[in-house]
Amino acid sequence: MPYFHHFDDGAGNREPPMKRYETFADQIAELIREGVLAPGERVPSVRQASRQYGISHSTVFQAYYLLEDRGLIVARSRSGYYVREQARRVLHEPRMTPSRQESADVAVSELVFSVLDSLQDPDTVPFGSAFPSPELFPLARLARSMARGLREMNDNEVLRDMTAGDADLRRQIVLRYTLKGMPLPPEELVITSGAMEALNLGLQCVTEPGDLVAIESPAFYASLQILERLKLRAVEIPVHPREGVDLDVLADSLARLPIKACWFMSHLQNPLGASLDDDRKRALYALIKRHRVPLIEDDAYAELHFGTTPPKPVKQFDDEGLVIHCGSFSKSLAPGYRVGWVAAGRFAEAISRLKLMTTISPSVPAQAAIADYLQYGGYDRHLRRLRHALETQQGRMLTAAAQHFPAETRATRPAGGYFLWFELPERVDSLRLFHLAREHGISLAPGPIFSATQGFRHCLRLSYGHPWTPRSEAAMATLGELIDTF
Ligand SMILES: Cc1ncc(COP(=O)(O)O)c(C=O)c1O
Repeated sequence: MPYFHHFDDGAGNREPPMKRYETFADQIAELIREGVLAPGERVPSVRQASRQYGISHSTVFQAYYLLEDRGLIVARSRSGYYVREQARRVLHEPRMTPSRQESADVAVSELVFSVLDSLQDPDTVPFGSAFPSPELFPLARLARSMARGLREMNDNEVLRDMTAGDADLRRQIVLRYTLKGMPLPPEELVITSGAMEALNLGLQCVTEPGDLVAIESPAFYASLQILERLKLRAVEIPVHPREGVDLDVLADSLARLPIKACWFMSHLQNPLGASLDDDRKRALYALIKRHRVPLIEDDAYAELHFGTTPPKPVKQFDDEGLVIHCGSFSKSLAPGYRVGWVAAGRFAEAISRLKLMTTISPSVPAQAAIADYLQYGGYDRHLRRLRHALETQQGRMLTAAAQHFPAETRATRPAGGYFLWFELPERVDSLRLFHLAREHGISLAPGPIFSATQGFRHCLRLSYGHPWTPRSEAAMATLGELIDTF
């Protein structure tokens, strides 16, 4: 199949460029995110913006309606548009937890399973969910890609490509790395059953039972479960809610302890949403290179950035093949297809062999469907819509939290993804809150499931991955009332 057709929708139409008002809205959103336009400050008047940016009045209006919808600005009658004050003013950034600097056995699985269990009930308000709403994904279009992918499937090629993965899909993924300015040797790439398999195989490949692994604190709970299953010990490195993992603590831990692997998210960390900037990513790479410790980089949220420039992972600096970069389509395109990948550097061969010994291959039709969609389906257009929807929903949830949660509540405001992390007053026990909320038909992810040592008792993660409805608003009010009972 041709290599460069991925902007085509299959009917021969090129993907339309982003509309002018969307581009302008993104520029203003970026200024707000960076604090250049502060909360409460007036955004440029329609006339000013029109003159300055060379766009029509109606384009500026359309952009401001969009930003209003995303919860970033508010209109004041006869005075213009202002950066929304409420969320920022009331909800300060969470504090960073102090470092413990010891290693710990991990035992969180039971707790995690009980939280995941709470998500099974379809009538529950899914604030605890790990996936965005299926409504936000182009599932009908994907089904068409599945049909076409199957029609064009060559059974001999299927058998030949089974372990490395569908050849078209691999080309499309390599192309996406290349377009980001990160050329990737195709032999490094292994298709997996979601990022989960990539992460499992990556960790298994570079550790043995009893080894120490540096992880984030708080960390994605599945990473803790994987450590538990592989009998690895966790060294918890604190994460700043905006700037990401604390590199001073990491440097100290790497110097003092025989750490065999690091497992970090450099972008939109789950659960905090923190991202390292490029300087810090470079510094992180320099550290692991100096200590010759592989980095398992979980980049499951790579495509969910709100800013206009796609961030690049630590992998961009990897000149020695030390970074095992794990990606997925689960959060950005097709949750149920279970297709992810790993760009595994020097470990690609070993990971391929481990995969051959365990699952052999993700489902071939699912891979063919995604390959076809990436070529013809308009993935980038879908991603822009998805990001806008998520940003709008974030604004709604922050505004609701500012209104309904106690004044001392602190919250993150990530530049992407679909999670907010809340630090509640110390008296609140988020595990008890989890049970109370469940009785009221609301799920949430309590802080202790994100910690090897069951910390973060007064914290919780809420998902804004579902379209905001009056029911979501009411659920936030109920959560606020439940929090007040502590
Ligand atoms: C941070 C993070 N990494 C990896 C995964 C697993 O992704 P996948 O569904 O592709 O296996 C998830 C899913 O919840 C996640 O949140």
